[in-house]
Amino acid sequence: MKQVVFITGATSGFGRATARRFAQAGWSLVLTGRRTDRLEELKAELSPKVPVHIATLDVRDAAAVQAVVDALPEDFRPVKSLINNAGLALAPQPSQSVALDDWHTMIDTNITGLVNVTHALLPLLLKAGPGASIVNIGSVAGQWPYPGGHVYGASKAFVQQFSYNLRCDLIKTGVRVTDIAPGMAETEFSLVRNKGDQAAADKVYAGTTAMSAEDIAEQIHYVAALPAHLNINRLEIMPVRQAWSNFAVDRDA
Ligand SMILES: NC(=O)c1ccc[n+]([C@@H]2O[C@H](COP(=O)([O-])OP(=O)(O)OC[C@H]3O[C@@H](n4cnc5c(N)ncnc54)[C@H](OP(=O)(O)O)[C@@H]3O)[C@@H](O)[C@H]2O)c1
Repeated sequence: MKQVVFITGATSGFGRATARRFAQAGWSLVLTGRRTDRLEELKAELSPKVPVHIATLDVRDAAAVQAVVDALPEDFRPVKSLINNAGLALAPQPSQSVALDDWHTMIDTNITGLVNVTHALLPLLLKAGPGASIVNIGSVAGQWPYPGGHVYGASKAFVQQFSYNLRCDLIKTGVRVTDIAPGMAETEFSLVRNKGDQAAADKVYAGTTAMSAEDIAEQIHYVAALPAHLNINRLEIMPVRQAWSNFAVDRDA
């Protein structure tokens, strides 16, 4: 039987590249996201290679998540790997000038959405048993603070700790859990963060070498395809041209 991977946020960036990488390795794909047209395009591209099931899904809606999982066709029910990738950052400005809605959207998507999908898929992953995996997409922002990181970074810190705590509960089941924490990667991430301002998004990647969606997809596939007795707890990846900087100090003028 083919191995099945369930990917959230498959319409763009890491999720779309991950769908292509798993298709290359022969996995059956369950592809989800809110933009149906993009899911259909990806299905048209990949279904000549592997079985593909698409479902339009907003991960913030717990009932919708459960309905998508309940309605999985029989061939797509033995889910062996869940890629919890759907997520976003909003509001790069300081906390004191952020709209509360933006904070709520990040919490609802990056935390509540990830929890919704994990809860709905756990029974299938447990059935798959040893070798099954949950790959959560965190961020370097979950570990390292920076100005304008506020709720985004905090939501990714949740992803890290939830991943670790899940491991504790799943120890006897053979289901692996990994927090992949990427640094700067060029996707639609900055376009979303800057609310469609392409110039502001381009500025983020200008004059440097960011990671690509394919770089991260390669790591996601690597983690999911490891031998069943291995668990990578956290994988933090940056482009060589990104590193930390010194502490900020407020000095008298
Ligand atoms: N790019 C980076 O530098 C970077 C670094 C660290 C971590 N990350 C994380 O990596 C993940 C993927 O981001 P990306 O860089 O690939 O950005 P992206 O190109 O903007 O892709 C984000 C994906 O998330 C989906 N999504 C957003 N809200 C959703 C919702 N409510 N329900 C379902 N799907 C939703 C989007 O699909 P729809 O809009 O079609 O729903 C899209 O497919 C995110 O969790 C992000 O926080 C990114």
